[in-house]
Amino acid sequence: MIYLKTPEEIELMRKACDLTSRTLGEMAKWVKPGVTTHKIDSVAKEFILDNGGRPACLGYGGFPGAVCIEVNETVVHGFPSTYSLREGDIVGLDVVVELDGFNGDMCYTFPVGQVDEKVLALMKTTKESLYKGIEACREGGRIGDIANAVQTYVERRGYSVVREMCGHGIGRKMHEDPEVPNYGRRGTGPLIKNGMCIAIEPMINLGSRNIVIESDGWTCRTRDRKPSAHYEHTVAVLGGETHVLTTFDYVKEVLGESYI
Ligand code: MF3
Ligand code: CO
Repeated sequence: MIYLKTPEEIELMRKACDLTSRTLGEMAKWVKPGVTTHKIDSVAKEFILDNGGRPACLGYGGFPGAVCIEVNETVVHGFPSTYSLREGDIVGLDVVVELDGFNGDMCYTFPVGQVDEKVLALMKTTKESLYKGIEACREGGRIGDIANAVQTYVERRGYSVVREMCGHGIGRKMHEDPEVPNYGRRGTGPLIKNGMCIAIEPMINLGSRNIVIESDGWTCRTRDRKPSAHYEHTVAVLGGETHVLTTFDYVKEVLGESYI
């Protein structure tokens, strides 16, 4: 069941997404060699709570962190841990914030210091594919249009799309209908309507698309242990236009010249 939102509800979504974006900006300040992923998790948790929000991942289906942290071959749902970031790593920070009953969801994959050119190119293409997906999200179109835009963009450049994990509707719940896959055919899937709020989140691998879920039941990694990149925005369709409710502006401020 797809819950279409009123303009008033989308205004609340916007506020939740703003706090989500600011949280990611705070986390970005800690992305450097020697910092544990647990530290980044506590920075996020404190910032969210101080600003009247709730870290929605914490306790979700038993998830142990305030946020998901995805180092190198981790695709999604990594646990914050005692692992210290190393020069050359990449790290995806995926954060969901609930504020006044609505959720914002976003992810950014960061380089830690100097990163291999090939991996940087994967990150850049993955981020670009997110914007291709957003462009293809048009009132009157279909979810498959988004899926196809992402898939075409990344596969043409030799990368592969994770199939088992998808974007999703979002609102009062972090995960609502519809599913928003990153592969598929144009003109298929649910109709995109005014009031629809979705999280678009390409998860793209340098090597093969195959994944493995670790024995903790959560951590999703590439089977070949090659790196994976992940970027995500929450968007709303309102008045025939697609509005991106989350922003990377705060991340950009922190990264300065290294923002790609
Ligand atoms: N933000 C992620 C998602 O896309 C992960 C949430 S899973 C959780 O949809 F359990 F950690 F909350
Ligand atoms: Co999501």
